[in-house]
Amino acid sequence: MKRPKPFSSSAGFGPVFEWNNARPLLMTRRFDQTAALQQRALETIPLASQTFSKSVLQTVEGAAPLFLERGDGCRVWDVDGNNYIDFVLGLLPVVLGYRHPGVDAAIRAQLEKGISFSLSTELEVELAERLVRHIPCAEMVRFGKNGSDATTAAVRLARAHTGRDKIAVCGYHGWHDWYIGTTPRDLGVPDAVRALTDSFPFNDAGALEALLATAPDAYAAVIMEPAGIDDPAPEFLQTVRTLCDRFGAVLIFDEIVTGFRIALGGAQAHYGVAPDLASFGKALGNGMPISAIVGRRDIMVRMEDIFFSGTFGGEALSLAAALATLDALEKDDVPNRIAGAGRKLRAGVSEIVDEFSLRQEFTVKGPDWWPAVLPSGNGRADAMITGSLLKQELIERGVLMGPTFNLCLAHDDAAIIEQTLAAWRGAAAAVSEALALNDPMRALRGKPMRPVFQVRRHAADGA
Ligand SMILES: Cc1ncc(COP(=O)(O)O)c(C=O)c1O
Repeated sequence: MKRPKPFSSSAGFGPVFEWNNARPLLMTRRFDQTAALQQRALETIPLASQTFSKSVLQTVEGAAPLFLERGDGCRVWDVDGNNYIDFVLGLLPVVLGYRHPGVDAAIRAQLEKGISFSLSTELEVELAERLVRHIPCAEMVRFGKNGSDATTAAVRLARAHTGRDKIAVCGYHGWHDWYIGTTPRDLGVPDAVRALTDSFPFNDAGALEALLATAPDAYAAVIMEPAGIDDPAPEFLQTVRTLCDRFGAVLIFDEIVTGFRIALGGAQAHYGVAPDLASFGKALGNGMPISAIVGRRDIMVRMEDIFFSGTFGGEALSLAAALATLDALEKDDVPNRIAGAGRKLRAGVSEIVDEFSLRQEFTVKGPDWWPAVLPSGNGRADAMITGSLLKQELIERGVLMGPTFNLCLAHDDAAIIEQTLAAWRGAAAAVSEALALNDPMRALRGKPMRPVFQVRRHAADGA
């Protein structure tokens, strides 16, 4: 092994090391400002974060950034001045890249006119019309701010439409009581609410059928992520559609991750199965807070009877951003370009995992639009340790990511893909070296990650 050569840092961060593929003896990246800001934040902000997946629970505390300062394209800079190729993208909203010129110009132009108004604006109508054009099930549209607004509105609408209470869920659907009661992090959710929601596994239509059959007239809705790291098995979505029709339940596709990534019209366009209602969010505003619930006219009109109404429902900067995001998504063929980048990254990482004999420890999978590298827990160390080691070593080499490659238009660049794979090669070498130790934990320079809860079959990558 060639030893890293020390050199002095002109930035005054103390000793740093030039290095090759091997694990640096000392971290080249420093997180002094991170640690100070974390201490300060903990005085006023529980967990020092607004989002579990952005918190210290999901990182290697002491050897990873916790606070970012700015982003540009697919790069972000932390408060210590370190920069990274970002495959988290704010947990998926940033589909075009940070500071996208078209979206930012639209926001600035709207800012000149105002942000939140006393009555509705034409922007709402324009955006609703655009979504109806793209999304197969969309005949009418309402907007919210978070994905959870949209999934909860869809569930309330389904209950109003059917006069039933029970809900069947598959995937992650946000932080509200009706869903979180099905997870291990259900503290604060009343038993009476928890009793109304049941989960079923993805790609298991038999399990859904058995569940619906336990109370054939009780299920108002089946809400599910139609695709994710796992592709739906052939006929799975169509079978779910048929079961919903048979049992009189409203079918809701939660397209908050798939929307505008797998295709502009979501998984329902890609797989040719239309739900009754669907929720969209995340990528719709390229980072601005906006979500949408769309669906069949006869169900959506019940919005006039239920209560789904909020101060910021028609906030104009996000609507303007969403229109500009759709412009770019259409013009630049974004889902195809994202898939192209994903294909190259997954193939490259897969080769690297083989090259460093890490196949036991990591499973490389996922569709082109959302490749994933999942610590298996079957190898030489616990999944939390192997995942933490990998994360630490990728961060050291300038790649910020969770278990998935969250992709944006700006990743579609040969140099970015090359740099990412070079970082992966170095990180894999370091992880492999660490796993050769009696106690691989010794190679961790911070505290290992801790689970939030596993919402999908293979990854805790919700919010
Ligand atoms: C599939 C899915 N549904 C709903 C949500 C909730 O969205 P939000 O966090 O914007 O409320 C998420 C967030 O990660 C999600 O991935």
